[in-house]
Amino acid sequence: MSILEKFSLRGRVALVTAGAGPLFGSSLSEGLAGAGATVITASRSLEANEAFADALRRRGFDAHGMQFDQCDLESIHALHDQIIARFGRLDVLVNSALARDGHAGGGFMEQTAEHARRSAEGDFAGLFEICRAFLPDMIHAGRGSIINISSIYGVVSNDPNLYLDTDMKQPPTYNFVKAGMINFTRYLACYYGRHGIRANCISPGGYANNQPPQFVQRYEQRVPIGRMLGHEDIQGAAVFLASDASAYVTGINLMVDGGWTAH
Ligand SMILES: NC(=O)c1ccc[n+]([C@@H]2O[C@H](COP(=O)([O-])OP(=O)(O)OC[C@H]3O[C@@H](n4cnc5c(N)ncnc54)[C@H](O)[C@@H]3O)[C@@H](O)[C@H]2O)c1
Repeated sequence: MSILEKFSLRGRVALVTAGAGPLFGSSLSEGLAGAGATVITASRSLEANEAFADALRRRGFDAHGMQFDQCDLESIHALHDQIIARFGRLDVLVNSALARDGHAGGGFMEQTAEHARRSAEGDFAGLFEICRAFLPDMIHAGRGSIINISSIYGVVSNDPNLYLDTDMKQPPTYNFVKAGMINFTRYLACYYGRHGIRANCISPGGYANNQPPQFVQRYEQRVPIGRMLGHEDIQGAAVFLASDASAYVTGINLMVDGGWTAH
C-alpha cells in the first residue's frame, strides 16, 4: 500500500459529534469526507445535521445527519443503535461536541457548582458513555480510531491579559474537562491498544471567529505562526489520526495550535 493510500479513509465509517457545527465540527466532517470516509454527524438538532449532510452529499461526499444529546445517556445509546443497524460498524469516533451549558456563567467566581455539574454531565459522563457505547463494536471488529477534541486550554491556562477590555469569558469548567479528556484518552489507548483500537487527542488553538480586534491582535502577537486557526487547519491532523497512516500512533495529544504551547 502506498503512503498516500494509507491516508485514505475510503470504506471507513466515521461519526463526528457536533459535526455540523460551523467551526470545528464542519471542518472535521469535511476533512474526513474529503479523504473518502462515510461521515455521520450528530447533535441535538436532527434538521441541522440532515441539512449539513445534504449539502455535503451535493458536493459528492457520503454523509448522513443524525440526532443525539450528549447530556442524555439514552440518546447516546439510541445513536449507537441507529449507526450499527444502518452501517454495521463504526471505524472512527470523533468527539467534538461541547455542551456549552456547563461552561456558561463567566469566570470562576461567577460560575456555580451547578455549572460544574452540568459540565460533568455532558462533557465527562457523556464522553465516557459514547466511548463505552462504541468500544464493544470496535473490539469485535478488531479496529477503531477514537479522536477526542481537547484544546490548548486542556494543556495550559488561559492568559488573562489576552482578554483585557473584552467581554470574553473563560469558565474554568472548560479547562477542567479538556485536561481530563487528554488523560482519559491515554487510558483508552493503554487499555484497548491490544484490541486494535487507537485513541488520540487533538488540541487546537483558537479558531478565528470574529473575536474583538484587540484580542485577535494580542493572540497573533503571541502565537508563533502569527495568526489564529483557520477552517481547514485541523483537517490534516484528523485524517492522519483516523487513517492507517497513524497505525502506530496512540495515546498522543496532537497540538494544532500554531505553536501556542511551544513557549
Ligand atoms: N472554537 C475554538 O476556538 C476551540 C478551540 C479549541 C478547542 N475547541 C473544541 O472544539 C470542539 C468544537 O467546538 P466549536 O468551537 O467548533 O463549536 P462550539 O463550541 O461553538 O459548539 C459546540 C458544538 O457542540 C454541540 N453541542 C452542544 N451541546 C450538545 C449536546 N448536549 N449534545 C450534542 N451536541 C452538543 C453544538 O451543537 C455545537 O455544534 C469543542 O470540543 C471545543 O471545545 C474549540
